[in-house]
Amino acid sequence: MSDVRHDPTLALTPPMGWNSWNALGIRVDEAAVLAHAELLVSTGLAELGYTQVIIDDGWHDGRDRAGRLRPHAGRFPSGIRALADRVHALGLRLGIYSCAGVRTCAGLPGSYGMEVEDAATFAEWGVDYLKYDYCHAPDDRDEAIRRYTRMGEALRRCGRPIVYAVCEWGSRQPWSFPDLAHGHSARTTFDIIDAWDGNLDYSNRGASVTQILDRQHGLHTYAAPGRWNDLDMLVVGLGGRGYIGGGGCTDTEYRSHFGLWCLHAAPLIIGCDLRTVRPEHLDILRWRAAIAVDQDPCGHQAERVRREGRCEVFVKALDRGAQAVGLLNRGERPAVIDHKPWGRFRVTDLGDGADLGVIENAVGREVPPHGLALLRLDPCGALEG
Ligand code: GLA
Repeated sequence: MSDVRHDPTLALTPPMGWNSWNALGIRVDEAAVLAHAELLVSTGLAELGYTQVIIDDGWHDGRDRAGRLRPHAGRFPSGIRALADRVHALGLRLGIYSCAGVRTCAGLPGSYGMEVEDAATFAEWGVDYLKYDYCHAPDDRDEAIRRYTRMGEALRRCGRPIVYAVCEWGSRQPWSFPDLAHGHSARTTFDIIDAWDGNLDYSNRGASVTQILDRQHGLHTYAAPGRWNDLDMLVVGLGGRGYIGGGGCTDTEYRSHFGLWCLHAAPLIIGCDLRTVRPEHLDILRWRAAIAVDQDPCGHQAERVRREGRCEVFVKALDRGAQAVGLLNRGERPAVIDHKPWGRFRVTDLGDGADLGVIENAVGREVPPHGLALLRLDPCGALEG
């Protein structure tokens, strides 16, 4: 029996940051990582909570003679330790990627059998976050639990607090792994692509925004501070130009995607290239009121409480009896969507901050095609009314 305990305190609210994969794939290099760290600060994103700068697959090219993972000499000439120092000097944290298989998804050496050594290396380099994938590993759920737990324990023992992101794509119900294998989040689906919809073949290992959304139904009971369902990285701002597939989303769809991820208390990990992002997409990523919904201290994930035709209602319980309500129109025409909460509430539209007054037992909004109305409902006590 292990003496190591799951430590939720490293991620009491969903992790936020930037990850290299969606925009850069295996072409990631230290200049791009550093540029993104600087941009997180200069655009105000860091101040909003986006503090993890995560290098995904492609950062290394093997192991050295001592068996230590070796950063790719051409793309990471300064090494990870020096990069971590520079990222830390900006007040940010550095994340890295490895895999529970013998190789990563890009075919580079994984951490299987080297968990303790690799956790020690990451700690020595000053790494603060590990995304841990599941390519080149057996399908079996019990074996996945063993492998994730082995790295989870190694991280807990490595002498440095490291946030642990489990990434086996939902195939083995990781949300119910015991203690989430010491993880702080677990991916629930295959990789996101930059598309709203599109009847994609899920077995093809790519999922659109709404396919990922549909796969969250029923998972809200598993989310809690320190153990989040990960809906995968944001595609906001990719504009069809990313490393991942998909032809892009409209601005309305990007905004709905962002609001839905916030309702689901998902990790908010930016995936676009911030060096070329359009200002209107940056504004979506800086949607402060939605981020507050995501980061609510109670840590509840929204539940879809109604689905009628192409209209859906999501409710996320917030601190102090408040609720965040998402009215989603998946149809092709504007639709009036209503929600019937029990009681009297003051309603704020989190899209523009408008005070919509006090409602009793019902609130409705007209929502454009593929749009999301995000509302905050604060209870009005009997004494007030
Ligand atoms: C898997 C993960 C992605 C990304 C790639 C890297 O597909 O799900 O998020 O990390 O591997 O190869």
